[in-house]
Amino acid sequence: MSTHRDSGHGHNHTDVDWEVMAAHLEHSGELQLPVLRRTAARLRELLDPEKKVRRILDIGSGPGVMTCVFAEAFADAEAVAVDGTPGLLDRALARAERLGLGGRVAVRHVELPEGLDGVDDHGEGGLGTSDLVWSSKAVHHLGDQQGALTALAGVLSPGGLLAVAEGGLPMRFLPRDIGIGRPGFQARLDVVQERWFETMRAELPGSTALVEDWPAMLSRAGLTRVGSFTSLLDLPAPLGATARAFLHAQLTRLRETMSESLEVEDRGTLDVLLDPGAPEGILRRPDAFLLSATTVFTGVRSAR
Ligand SMILES: C[S@@+](CC[C@H](N)C(=O)[O-])C[C@H]1O[C@@H](n2cnc3c(N)ncnc32)[C@H](O)[C@@H]1O
Repeated sequence: MSTHRDSGHGHNHTDVDWEVMAAHLEHSGELQLPVLRRTAARLRELLDPEKKVRRILDIGSGPGVMTCVFAEAFADAEAVAVDGTPGLLDRALARAERLGLGGRVAVRHVELPEGLDGVDDHGEGGLGTSDLVWSSKAVHHLGDQQGALTALAGVLSPGGLLAVAEGGLPMRFLPRDIGIGRPGFQARLDVVQERWFETMRAELPGSTALVEDWPAMLSRAGLTRVGSFTSLLDLPAPLGATARAFLHAQLTRLRETMSESLEVEDRGTLDVLLDPGAPEGILRRPDAFLLSATTVFTGVRSAR
């Protein structure tokens, strides 16, 4: 097993194997495509109309779904997927080729936070100046979140925009009472995931506690016109096969990583939900839906 930040030794239960998650991350991004396209359009509006966008960085890009959305939305720009997991960057390049965007999508293998402020593992320096820096669900995997934001703000050209997708609401996909076990299963999953997240953050190298007030953090990074917006993905029941497969993969990962923290009855519920043949399973039950809200925090580097 290889991960972005170790050589296969000394794993603990919060060490994420991103290579293994590649297909899941790409499916997740594809489900979010309508939201991602709206987000790219909204970010365009937050930039001054005369600001030329020539270079975009997608920090912790994963398989490059948003990188490609940017390349589509900003026709004059090069979009660069930046990630510490080579297999995900390969996917980003393949995706760009498939979509006919190959000429304007590039990848950079960078281990963060080291790659933010110096020379990466190939001896190349820094990330280069950019007009738009995007990072979705990656900054929270870095020990010093404020340090990362300050470094990302530092690569912006004058008038450039930093946008980080962090937070929002926990995803919802089941009613409160699902007819198996005690009602409130999803709320209890949230508690277990929250505990996992806390441990994951505490175990990161250079882990620094701070109040996660993202607008204040962007202001401290030296940015102006700080704000946020939230986008909703609303897939009502009955779900199609793609969304069901995504939820099945999501719950499988949960069982692999966190089931020991669940009550025995909830472990049983999880098993039923994951059973492909069960009518109450997530692949077949009629009441499954998908509701997710993502908040994007933004700030602009002063043009002066
Ligand atoms: C939760 S995924 C988010 C992927 C994508 N941005 C999205 O929103 O779907 C986190 C990504 O950050 C990358 N990542 C996590 N820690 C990293 C680090 N220290 N250096 C470089 N990349 C890292 C992982 O490889 C993974 O692709």
